[in-house]
Amino acid sequence: LTVRQPIIAIDGPAGAGKSTVTRQVADKLGLLYLDTGAMYRAVTWYVLECGIPVQDETHIAQFLKTCQIRLEPQGDSPQCRVWVNQHEVTQAIRSPDVTAQVSTVAAFPAVREFLVRQQQEYGAAGGLVAEGRDMGTQVFPDAEVKIFLTASVQERARRRQLDLEKQGYEVSLSQLEAEIAQRDQQDSTRPISPLQKAEDAIEIQTDDLTVEDVVSQILSHVPSD
Ligand code: DC
Repeated sequence: LTVRQPIIAIDGPAGAGKSTVTRQVADKLGLLYLDTGAMYRAVTWYVLECGIPVQDETHIAQFLKTCQIRLEPQGDSPQCRVWVNQHEVTQAIRSPDVTAQVSTVAAFPAVREFLVRQQQEYGAAGGLVAEGRDMGTQVFPDAEVKIFLTASVQERARRRQLDLEKQGYEVSLSQLEAEIAQRDQQDSTRPISPLQKAEDAIEIQTDDLTVEDVVSQILSHVPSD
């Protein structure tokens, strides 16, 4: 009898620190790391690149057939390398443009079905740490460990500002707070797969915790075999 390796589902709003934490948990456990936000960003990049209006669900649904997404871990970075067809879009999917439009694209059922199927294929054999908004509720409802990471809007805006600065973008804190609050609102009120804590998820509020604290809290919930 082989015991399936666990699936660890990590959900939470933008800027709660999911990427860094997820990557470290995956590394510590020797499991695959899956950034599902990067997949929604990749589709959004493709939609913009093809010049399709982001509101045009029918048109977007048709274009998904020609959108092949590939993710690959890179070194110690919390961010995977990402390709859409032959284009590497690792940086491009983090641009303010993509960030501003991704909630709209991620709300379309056709887009979600297309990506959820791929996400479930990654997790078919277990052994995965997956981060997103609906990992514990929709994509991996049977995950062995479900975590819901939160942080205040102010703290998340501050973290996002630091990230953007590193990439050479200068955005004011108040603008980021407004954008984050708006994205939270959009992501948690959309009809399908809204951002929601799974009933059986463990909530961790990260404002006053270091990355190491959060990682070790999560690891303490992983059953050892
Ligand atoms: O985690 P992120 O900021 O890279 O996510 C980008 C967008 O994708 C965000 O607006 C929410 C959406 N998303 C989603 O709807 N479902 C997921 N599983 C992951 C991300």
